[in-house]
Amino acid sequence: MQKGVFITFEGPEGAGKTTVIKELYKRLDKEGRNVILTREPGGIRIAEKIRGIILDNNHQEMDAKTEALLYAAARSQHLVEKVVPAIQEGTIVLCDRFVDSSLAYQGYARGLGIDEVLSINEFAIGETMPDLTVFFDIKPEAGLARITANDKREENRLDKESLRFHQDVYEGYQELIRRYPDRIQITDASLPQEQVTENVWKIICSQLIK
Ligand code: TMP
Repeated sequence: MQKGVFITFEGPEGAGKTTVIKELYKRLDKEGRNVILTREPGGIRIAEKIRGIILDNNHQEMDAKTEALLYAAARSQHLVEKVVPAIQEGTIVLCDRFVDSSLAYQGYARGLGIDEVLSINEFAIGETMPDLTVFFDIKPEAGLARITANDKREENRLDKESLRFHQDVYEGYQELIRRYPDRIQITDASLPQEQVTENVWKIICSQLIK
Protein backbone atom coordinates (compact mmCIF):
# COMPACT_ATOMS: atom_id res chain seq x y z
CA MET A 1 0.00 0.00 0.00
CA GLN A 2 1.22 3.49 -0.86
CA LYS A 3 2.21 5.65 2.13
CA GLY A 4 0.03 8.69 2.72
CA VAL A 5 1.09 12.33 2.66
CA PHE A 6 1.32 14.53 5.73
CA ILE A 7 0.71 18.23 5.00
CA THR A 8 0.64 20.89 7.71
CA PHE A 9 -0.46 24.53 7.63
CA GLU A 10 1.10 27.25 9.73
CA GLY A 11 0.89 30.97 10.24
CA PRO A 12 0.11 33.81 12.61
CA GLU A 13 -3.36 34.50 14.00
CA GLY A 14 -5.94 35.65 11.44
CA ALA A 15 -4.03 34.27 8.44
CA GLY A 16 -7.21 32.59 7.14
CA LYS A 17 -5.68 29.09 7.22
CA THR A 18 -8.70 27.28 8.57
CA THR A 19 -11.11 28.47 5.85
CA VAL A 20 -8.64 27.72 3.06
CA ILE A 21 -7.83 24.24 4.39
CA LYS A 22 -11.54 23.34 4.52
CA GLU A 23 -11.85 24.28 0.84
CA LEU A 24 -8.75 22.20 -0.04
CA TYR A 25 -10.20 19.25 1.85
CA LYS A 26 -13.47 19.54 -0.13
CA ARG A 27 -11.59 19.60 -3.44
CA LEU A 28 -9.45 16.57 -2.62
CA ASP A 29 -12.49 14.69 -1.36
CA LYS A 30 -14.41 15.52 -4.54
CA GLU A 31 -11.51 14.13 -6.57
CA GLY A 32 -12.09 10.85 -4.73
CA ARG A 33 -8.85 11.08 -2.75
CA ASN A 34 -8.47 9.44 0.61
CA VAL A 35 -8.13 12.58 2.76
CA ILE A 36 -8.69 13.71 6.34
CA LEU A 37 -8.67 17.17 7.89
CA THR A 38 -7.52 17.59 11.45
CA ARG A 39 -6.03 20.23 13.73
CA GLU A 40 -3.67 20.90 16.60
CA PRO A 41 -4.03 21.20 19.43
CA GLY A 42 -6.98 18.83 19.11
CA GLY A 43 -8.26 16.51 16.41
CA ILE A 44 -9.20 13.75 18.85
CA ARG A 45 -11.06 13.64 22.19
CA ILE A 46 -8.11 13.77 24.60
CA ALA A 47 -6.24 16.44 22.63
CA GLU A 48 -9.38 18.58 22.33
CA LYS A 49 -9.63 18.48 26.14
CA ILE A 50 -5.99 19.54 26.44
CA ARG A 51 -6.75 22.34 23.94
CA GLY A 52 -9.52 23.55 26.25
CA ILE A 53 -7.06 23.74 29.15
CA ILE A 54 -4.35 25.54 27.17
CA LEU A 55 -6.57 28.14 25.52
CA ASP A 56 -8.86 28.84 28.49
CA ASN A 57 -8.91 32.61 29.06
CA ASN A 58 -9.04 32.01 32.82
CA HIS A 59 -5.68 30.21 32.83
CA GLN A 60 -3.58 33.38 32.81
CA GLU A 61 -1.10 31.91 35.32
CA MET A 62 -0.04 29.09 32.97
CA ASP A 63 3.76 28.75 32.89
CA ALA A 64 5.45 28.75 29.46
CA LYS A 65 6.98 25.28 30.02
CA THR A 66 3.61 23.88 31.09
CA GLU A 67 2.12 25.33 27.93
CA ALA A 68 4.86 23.79 25.73
CA LEU A 69 4.48 20.39 27.41
CA LEU A 70 0.70 20.41 27.06
CA TYR A 71 0.95 21.16 23.33
CA ALA A 72 3.49 18.34 22.99
CA ALA A 73 1.26 15.95 24.98
CA ALA A 74 -1.76 16.75 22.81
CA ARG A 75 0.43 16.26 19.73
CA SER A 76 1.70 12.87 20.85
CA GLN A 77 -1.80 11.50 21.43
CA HIS A 78 -3.08 13.00 18.17
CA LEU A 79 -0.27 11.36 16.21
CA VAL A 80 -0.59 7.93 17.80
CA GLU A 81 -4.36 7.82 17.61
CA LYS A 82 -5.09 9.52 14.31
CA VAL A 83 -2.28 10.88 12.13
CA VAL A 84 0.17 7.96 11.99
CA PRO A 85 -2.50 5.28 11.32
CA ALA A 86 -3.97 7.47 8.57
CA ILE A 87 -0.57 7.97 6.90
CA GLN A 88 0.06 4.22 7.10
CA GLU A 89 -3.28 3.57 5.39
CA GLY A 90 -2.28 5.80 2.48
CA THR A 91 -4.39 8.82 3.47
CA ILE A 92 -3.59 12.48 2.73
CA VAL A 93 -3.55 14.16 6.16
CA LEU A 94 -4.21 17.91 6.19
CA CYS A 95 -3.33 19.28 9.62
CA ASP A 96 -4.09 22.83 10.80
CA ARG A 97 -0.88 23.60 12.80
CA PHE A 98 1.77 21.14 13.99
CA VAL A 99 5.22 21.24 15.61
CA ASP A 100 6.29 24.49 13.89
CA SER A 101 3.62 26.30 15.94
CA SER A 102 5.31 25.10 19.13
CA LEU A 103 8.72 26.17 17.82
CA ALA A 104 7.48 29.66 16.83
CA TYR A 105 5.10 30.35 19.74
CA GLN A 106 6.69 28.56 22.71
CA GLY A 107 10.26 28.26 21.45
CA TYR A 108 10.76 31.71 19.99
CA ALA A 109 7.98 34.05 21.21
CA ARG A 110 7.79 32.68 24.78
CA GLY A 111 11.59 32.55 24.82
CA LEU A 112 11.97 28.87 25.75
CA GLY A 113 14.34 28.34 22.81
CA ILE A 114 13.59 26.67 19.48
CA ASP A 115 16.04 23.82 20.15
CA GLU A 116 14.70 23.18 23.65
CA VAL A 117 11.11 23.01 22.43
CA LEU A 118 12.20 20.87 19.50
CA SER A 119 13.78 18.38 21.88
CA ILE A 120 10.61 17.85 23.96
CA ASN A 121 8.70 17.52 20.72
CA GLU A 122 11.12 14.95 19.38
CA PHE A 123 10.20 12.87 22.41
CA ALA A 124 6.50 13.40 21.58
CA ILE A 125 6.54 12.79 17.83
CA GLY A 126 9.52 10.55 17.14
CA GLU A 127 10.29 10.48 13.43
CA THR A 128 6.97 11.82 12.18
CA MET A 129 7.53 15.10 10.35
CA PRO A 130 5.37 16.67 7.64
CA ASP A 131 6.19 16.01 3.99
CA LEU A 132 5.14 19.58 3.28
CA THR A 133 4.32 22.63 5.40
CA VAL A 134 2.54 25.67 3.94
CA PHE A 135 3.22 28.93 5.75
CA PHE A 136 0.43 31.50 5.45
CA ASP A 137 2.37 34.71 5.31
CA ILE A 138 0.61 37.71 6.83
CA LYS A 139 2.01 40.46 9.03
CA PRO A 140 0.77 40.14 12.62
CA GLU A 141 -0.88 43.58 12.54
CA ALA A 142 -2.99 42.58 9.52
CA GLY A 143 -3.83 39.15 10.98
CA LEU A 144 -4.93 40.58 14.32
CA ALA A 145 -7.03 43.24 12.55
CA ARG A 146 -8.88 40.43 10.74
CA ILE A 147 -9.60 38.69 14.05
CA THR A 148 -10.95 41.89 15.58
CA ALA A 149 -13.16 42.43 12.51
CA ASN A 150 -14.51 38.86 12.73
CA ASP A 151 -16.92 39.04 15.65
CA LYS A 152 -17.94 35.37 15.24
CA ARG A 153 -14.48 34.21 16.37
CA GLU A 154 -14.08 34.04 20.13
CA GLU A 155 -10.67 35.31 21.28
CA ASN A 156 -8.61 32.71 23.16
CA ARG A 157 -5.77 33.14 25.68
CA LEU A 158 -3.09 33.36 22.98
CA ASP A 159 -5.03 35.76 20.74
CA LYS A 160 -5.06 38.15 23.69
CA GLU A 161 -1.26 38.35 23.90
CA SER A 162 0.42 41.67 23.00
CA LEU A 163 1.27 42.76 19.46
CA ARG A 164 4.94 42.32 20.45
CA PHE A 165 4.28 38.63 21.20
CA HIS A 166 2.64 38.13 17.81
CA GLN A 167 5.52 39.94 16.10
CA ASP A 168 7.89 37.53 17.84
CA VAL A 169 5.79 34.60 16.62
CA TYR A 170 6.18 35.95 13.08
CA GLU A 171 9.95 36.29 13.55
CA GLY A 172 10.04 32.76 14.93
CA TYR A 173 8.40 31.48 11.76
CA GLN A 174 10.97 33.37 9.66
CA GLU A 175 13.70 31.50 11.52
CA LEU A 176 11.96 28.17 10.80
CA ILE A 177 11.65 29.06 7.10
CA ARG A 178 15.43 29.60 7.08
CA ARG A 179 16.02 26.28 8.88
CA TYR A 180 13.67 24.14 6.79
CA PRO A 181 13.69 25.66 3.28
CA ASP A 182 12.84 22.35 1.57
CA ARG A 183 9.86 21.51 3.73
CA ILE A 184 8.25 24.93 4.29
CA GLN A 185 6.60 26.67 1.32
CA ILE A 186 5.30 30.21 1.68
CA THR A 187 2.01 31.60 0.43
CA ASP A 188 0.94 35.26 0.53
CA ALA A 189 -2.04 35.19 2.90
CA SER A 190 -2.80 38.89 2.54
CA LEU A 191 -4.39 38.18 -0.88
CA PRO A 192 -8.15 37.57 -1.24
CA GLN A 193 -9.11 34.17 0.14
CA GLU A 194 -10.04 32.65 -3.27
CA GLN A 195 -6.60 33.56 -4.58
CA VAL A 196 -4.86 32.09 -1.53
CA THR A 197 -6.86 28.87 -2.01
CA GLU A 198 -5.76 28.63 -5.65
CA ASN A 199 -2.12 29.25 -4.77
CA VAL A 200 -2.07 26.69 -1.97
CA TRP A 201 -3.93 24.20 -4.17
CA LYS A 202 -1.09 24.45 -6.71
CA ILE A 203 1.52 23.90 -3.99
CA ILE A 204 -0.33 20.85 -2.69
CA CYS A 205 -0.87 19.34 -6.16
CA SER A 206 2.84 19.60 -6.94
CA GLN A 207 3.56 17.70 -3.70
CA LEU A 208 0.98 15.02 -4.48
CA ILE A 209 2.48 14.20 -7.90
CA LYS A 210 6.04 13.96 -6.54
P1 TMP B 1 -6.02 28.09 16.41
O1 TMP B 1 -6.51 26.70 16.33
O2 TMP B 1 -7.09 29.11 16.40
O3 TMP B 1 -4.93 28.39 15.50
O4 TMP B 1 -5.51 28.26 17.93
C1 TMP B 1 -4.51 27.57 18.47
C2 TMP B 1 -3.63 28.53 19.23
O5 TMP B 1 -2.60 27.79 19.84
C3 TMP B 1 -2.96 29.57 18.34
O6 TMP B 1 -2.85 30.78 19.07
C4 TMP B 1 -1.56 29.02 18.14
C5 TMP B 1 -1.33 28.28 19.43
N1 TMP B 1 -0.41 27.15 19.35
C6 TMP B 1 0.79 27.21 20.04
O7 TMP B 1 1.11 28.22 20.68
N2 TMP B 1 1.62 26.12 20.00
C7 TMP B 1 1.28 24.98 19.32
O8 TMP B 1 2.05 24.02 19.30
C8 TMP B 1 0.03 24.94 18.60
C9 TMP B 1 -0.35 23.72 17.83
C10 TMP B 1 -0.78 26.04 18.65
